[in-house]
Amino acid sequence: MRKIVLGTAMAAVLAVAPGLAQAACTLSGDAAEGQKVSKQCTACHVFEASKPSRPTGPNIHDSMGRGIGEQADYTRYSAAFAAAKGKVTWDEAKVVEYVKDPKAFLAKVNGKDLKHGMNFKLADETKAKQVAAFLTAIKGKADCP
Ligand code: HEC
Repeated sequence: MRKIVLGTAMAAVLAVAPGLAQAACTLSGDAAEGQKVSKQCTACHVFEASKPSRPTGPNIHDSMGRGIGEQADYTRYSAAFAAAKGKVTWDEAKVVEYVKDPKAFLAKVNGKDLKHGMNFKLADETKAKQVAAFLTAIKGKADCP
């Protein structure tokens, strides 16, 4: 009898859980557009909290609000990122500036042009802002992409 009650309780929890998960990750406006833009980044990056970084780039699910080059399981940060460590905390304005021109951004931060690793530019300002909004929206949410 006790087992049956417990089973019913579990079923109730499982029925509610997916609904909660979706509610926690509703993307709208710029963040929703940014999710589409993020497909341009997935050649190198993963955005899912649960996935490890790939050799091509750090997992950036929780980059927003964090220092540059601090994704613990990514071991291939460039000389430019190593030199910039402690000098940049990612916010939307900085991510926009970075993705528009990583080389220029890092040269400005470091005061010199060191070898960097992100061979990609997202020149479109609107798209850069949208993808930055997406990063803000998913930060800390395990069930978000
Ligand atoms: C060609 C591969 C590639 C693409 C495409 C790419 N990135 Fe990157 N990205 C990297 C690499 C590699 C690094 C680490 C750079 C270094 O060590 O110099 C990086 C670093 C970053 C960081 C800093 C992460 C940290 O740990 O501090 C952010 C934020 C970022 N990329 C955002 C993006 C966004 C947003 C896009 C899509 C619009 C994108 N990247 C597209 C390869 C890529």
